[in-house]
Amino acid sequence: MTRSIEVLFSPAESSALAQRDLGRTACVVLDILRATTSMMAALANGAEAIIPAAEIPEALAIKEERPDVLLAGERNGLRIRADQTGGIDFDFGNSPREFLPEKVRGKTIVMTTTNGTRALRACAHAETVLIGSFLNLRAIVNYIRRDLPPHLILVCSGTHSQAALEDTLAAGALCERLWPYYAAGQVADSAEIARRIYPLLQADLLGAMKHSRNGQRLLNHPELRGDVYFCVQRETLSFVAGLQTDGTLRKLACEAPPLSGETTTTQYSRPSA
Ligand code: MLT
Repeated sequence: MTRSIEVLFSPAESSALAQRDLGRTACVVLDILRATTSMMAALANGAEAIIPAAEIPEALAIKEERPDVLLAGERNGLRIRADQTGGIDFDFGNSPREFLPEKVRGKTIVMTTTNGTRALRACAHAETVLIGSFLNLRAIVNYIRRDLPPHLILVCSGTHSQAALEDTLAAGALCERLWPYYAAGQVADSAEIARRIYPLLQADLLGAMKHSRNGQRLLNHPELRGDVYFCVQRETLSFVAGLQTDGTLRKLACEAPPLSGETTTTQYSRPSA
């Protein structure tokens, strides 16, 4: 079978995934600033699982059924407060620095964000759904190289209804590293675009964030600017996280040290839900 690689830049494109057959497809969802980076941080610090909810009422309904879960998420970048929920303050916003081990260890977190959790939900029917961040690029590459899914879609969550520079750069970083495995197949122009942009800006990701709409917004917010520094770190985490059949997002088991360089294949196994 001919392999294919594609990048979706905007929320309109990712919403359309709901109508596509993603049977033999792996999707990597990228919301660098900040949803997928925050999910990675929470799982790295011991959260058991994350349940992505598209909307606030859906998150509240899960909380009502399972009072043990913690609530996380943002609207307009800020933590969801009681006046938006009819009385419940969320436990966390969407800052990766909030998900500290003492707060999240062993916990299930229901999360709803403006774009990131919606993009995740739009492709939940894909054969494989991973979350991506700059923190774990190499682990994702190793995971994909192991199975080499016939179709690979890098889903950029975007900012409001538009493409986001930071997501495009992360997609480009993945395209660059996975090019040897997909370039001979069907390559969408979107993948070519992302792959060609990444080398232009990769030496100074923080500088690049000053030209991103969401980056500027966060950098101008005294309490949130540290998130941008956090989110542009590369290769600080060595695991992959993906959606399970029950709709939860969990760490995928890693049986070998993943930070092993490009020539070693990392062994992972997908846990049953
Ligand atoms: C989103 O999901 O739209 C983002 O993560 C927004 C944010 O920076 O909080």
